[in-house]
Amino acid sequence: MKAIEDIKKPINYEMELFEKKFRLSMSSRVALLNRITHYIVNRKGKQMRPMFVFLTAKMISEGEVSERTYRGASVLELIHTATLVHDDVVDDSDRRRGFFSINALWKNKIAVLVGDFLLSKGLLLCIDNNDFDLLKIISVAVREMSEGELLQIEKSRTLDITEEVYYEIIRKKTASLIAACCSLGAASLKPNSKEVETMRKFGELIGMAFQIKDDLFDYGTKQIGKPTGIDIKDQKMTLPLIYTLNKSSKKEKSWLINSVKNHSKNSKRVGEVINFVKKNGGLDYAVCKMKSFQKEALNLLAPFPDSIYKKSLILMVNYVIERNK
Ligand code: IPE
Ligand code: IPE
Ligand code: MG
Ligand code: MG
Repeated sequence: MKAIEDIKKPINYEMELFEKKFRLSMSSRVALLNRITHYIVNRKGKQMRPMFVFLTAKMISEGEVSERTYRGASVLELIHTATLVHDDVVDDSDRRRGFFSINALWKNKIAVLVGDFLLSKGLLLCIDNNDFDLLKIISVAVREMSEGELLQIEKSRTLDITEEVYYEIIRKKTASLIAACCSLGAASLKPNSKEVETMRKFGELIGMAFQIKDDLFDYGTKQIGKPTGIDIKDQKMTLPLIYTLNKSSKKEKSWLINSVKNHSKNSKRVGEVINFVKKNGGLDYAVCKMKSFQKEALNLLAPFPDSIYKKSLILMVNYVIERNK
């Protein structure tokens, strides 16, 4: 956790205030909803999205933030939370952040509705304050995330995913929201400036590295607060497996595809696939790609003048690929 504490130093004040505002942003008059949102805010995640918002805002403005920046950070974390609640329904996953997921405790029906509630609360926070430029950035991300999740489902049915399509999926389902965080951080203070687009691209690149890291966790055995080893069970093919498939012989390829298609619930067989991927350099390849996205992201920061905020953002870029949860 030390790394994250260091990154947060120049935005400690903003993050503390953010947390208060974020809690309030979920309130409802329905007791059941309040019970569930309390459960959610008391098990907070890494809060990387608001961190990206504040660090970007402060970097481009020599340390300034505004109410718009705070609202944007709350909306983005609300949307992130909504998508996790929905994602655990979609993936039928019973753990999140080291605790039971919402669907595990309250069932799918309620989880779907809670996700919708959080999403609408986020959008309304923008609308009620006339932040229509920010709403646009956020709505694009919401559309992309839904498309990304659906494209992923489509490909887990046809099992014909290529490396290019994999990048499209992760760009949409994950990188688009981190891109929105960074472009919103800039747009909250300097609307229509060229920094908005530079930081969007930066967020997208680091978001790609972020999801590759998440997919690598699935091949590991470390405790990360959510289940591992479930991607292949769900017939979800990620970069390590896609790469391995591409370099395999015809016979190996049909063994791999057959394993995913017809034996994905057989733990022994899935274990064999994982070992095959490891032996054939699938993980090394994914690490290499992850680092190349990370490097591209770092390059985009180079032109900005040095500051404590830029330094933290660079630490954050490194944290994305070195983190252990
Ligand atoms: C998890 O995101 C979902 C992905 C996009 C992989 P985080 O790892 O940022 O989740 P929390 O908020 O810290 O739990
Ligand atoms: C992340 O997808 C959630 C979204 C980006 C919507 P995953 O299913 O790959 O992530 P985890 O591992 O459940 O957090
Ligand atoms: Mg999931
Ligand atoms: Mg998912």
